[in-house]
Amino acid sequence: MRLTNAQIAEFEELGYLFLPSLFSPEEMAILNAEVPGLLAQRREEVVREKGSEAPRTAFYVQTWNEVFARLARHPKLVEPGFQLLGSEKLYMHQFKINAKAAFDGAVWQWHQDYATWFNDDDMPAPRAMNIALFLAEANEFNGPLMFIPRSHRRGRLAAGHDVTTTSYPLWTVDNETITRLVAEGGIVAPKGPPGSVLMFHGNLVHASGSNLTPWSRWIVYLSLNRCDNAIRRFKRPAWIANRDFTPIEMLPEDCLLDYARQRRTAAE
Ligand code: SIN
Ligand code: MN
Repeated sequence: MRLTNAQIAEFEELGYLFLPSLFSPEEMAILNAEVPGLLAQRREEVVREKGSEAPRTAFYVQTWNEVFARLARHPKLVEPGFQLLGSEKLYMHQFKINAKAAFDGAVWQWHQDYATWFNDDDMPAPRAMNIALFLAEANEFNGPLMFIPRSHRRGRLAAGHDVTTTSYPLWTVDNETITRLVAEGGIVAPKGPPGSVLMFHGNLVHASGSNLTPWSRWIVYLSLNRCDNAIRRFKRPAWIANRDFTPIEMLPEDCLLDYARQRRTAAE
C-alpha cells in the first residue's frame, strides 16, 4: 500500500501519520482472536506490569504466532516503511503487542525510541521507525499514545535511564525539556477504532498515561530498521532487540484473510 506524496510530506513535517480504519473489521477479528491466548502465555517474552499479573508487553510475537508472523510482513504496514525510511531493505528491530490492560495498564514515560535504540543497542542513526496498528479502540480514556508534533526535528535529546517507574527500563526525557517542547509543539493523541494505523519517527517524543478504564488498549508495534543501519551492540535479548537482519519480504494484501480461508478449509 503506497503512501501519497502529501502523506509522506505530513510525516516529515509532524513526525507522525495517522491512517484511521486502514484494516477491515474482518482482518481485525482474525488478529484479535489470537490476542487473549498470547497475553496469557507464561514465557519470558510476555512481560507483566510491575507488581501485577497484568500483561504489559508481548515481544517477538512474529516468531511464535503464525497470524502475527503474517502481520509482520503485511504490505499495508511494510510498504509505507519502505517509503518513509527510503529503502526496500528493512528488518524487524522489534515487534511487540502493548496490552495497556483494562484497569492495570501502566504509563509509558516521555521518551524517544531512538534514545533506547542508540544507548542500548548502538543503532548508528535514527533511520528506524514505529508502525503501530490499533488492535483495540484507542480513546481519550484508555491511555492513548501522546505525541509532541515536530519534536523529531530536535534530533536525539538527552535522556536518563529509568529502571524503576515501570517493569520495563526506558531512556526517558526530563520534565523541563518536555515542558519546553510542549510549549512549542503542543500535544496530540490520535484516537480511533481497531484497524487504525499510526506511523511515527524514531525521534518523535511520545508517552502514554495509565489505563483506569474497563477497556484494554491493545496496540501492535512494528519497529522497522534499515538493514544498512543494523544495531552493533547485543546487550538486550534478541527477543527485545532483534539480531536477525534479514530483509522483510512482503506478503500479498490478503495474507490475513488467506490464513482464515486456509483454517476453514482444513476444518472441513
Ligand atoms: C512505546 O512507546 O514504545 C509504547 C507506548 C505505548 O504503547 O503507549
Ligand atoms: Mn516508544
